[in-house]
Amino acid sequence: MRTLTIDIGGTGLKMIPLDLRGEAIGERHRELTPTPRTPKDVIAVLETMVDRQEPFDRVSVGFPGVVVRGVVRTAPNLGTEDWSGFDLGNAITQMTDRPTRVVNDAELQGYGVIAGEGVEMVLTLGTGLGTALYTDGRLVPNLELGHHPLRKGKTYEELVSDAELARVGKKRWRKRVQRVFDTLAPIFNYDRLYVGGGNAKKLVDPLPPGVERFDNVSGMEGGVALWGDRTAKVAAP
Ligand code: BGC
Repeated sequence: MRTLTIDIGGTGLKMIPLDLRGEAIGERHRELTPTPRTPKDVIAVLETMVDRQEPFDRVSVGFPGVVVRGVVRTAPNLGTEDWSGFDLGNAITQMTDRPTRVVNDAELQGYGVIAGEGVEMVLTLGTGLGTALYTDGRLVPNLELGHHPLRKGKTYEELVSDAELARVGKKRWRKRVQRVFDTLAPIFNYDRLYVGGGNAKKLVDPLPPGVERFDNVSGMEGGVALWGDRTAKVAAP
């Protein structure tokens, strides 16, 4: 049973094949997210990537927005106008002729790294800010904390996005990320916080107590959990 796991990002499109335990069984492939970023354009690039893959049995997709039963509701960093209402699950099934499950990108990545015990929170620092919350391995779907105002009318995402990092520099950006940690800890009272996304490596070690960093490949290993299979770390919901 091979699960092709796809991560659709604001900057890159990635895919990796996984075995039943969520271990990678091949290389991760990456292409730039095309411009424009409409469903048609993104699907066209994914199709060229899928064509280069070894055979697989099912597909898991992490999408950078709110997804309900495979249908996209929002896509702040791709263009919600273009994506809202798009049945991404069905489009990928049509393309691959394989069953497909789609969830939010931070949620999929969280499944790859959480322990499945207690309250666990996941943040992804990339083009946008992804957030996911689990209790004993069960997901609270579509927690969109990134769009909640944090300071002076600016949302968490507006303060720590990739564009802001480029604008204000690493030092100020790191302070802002610390503010995000300090704000979230007393609200969610999580046992553990996992931080991923392309910019996680720009945080300075040691990370605050209870905070762990993860990379994109470990996150994508969460793809098998969408099917109720037990990953190396966590029993699926
Ligand atoms: C979206 C989230 C997504 C995050 C990271 C945010 O703008 O609202 O759904 O997880 O970006 O891609």
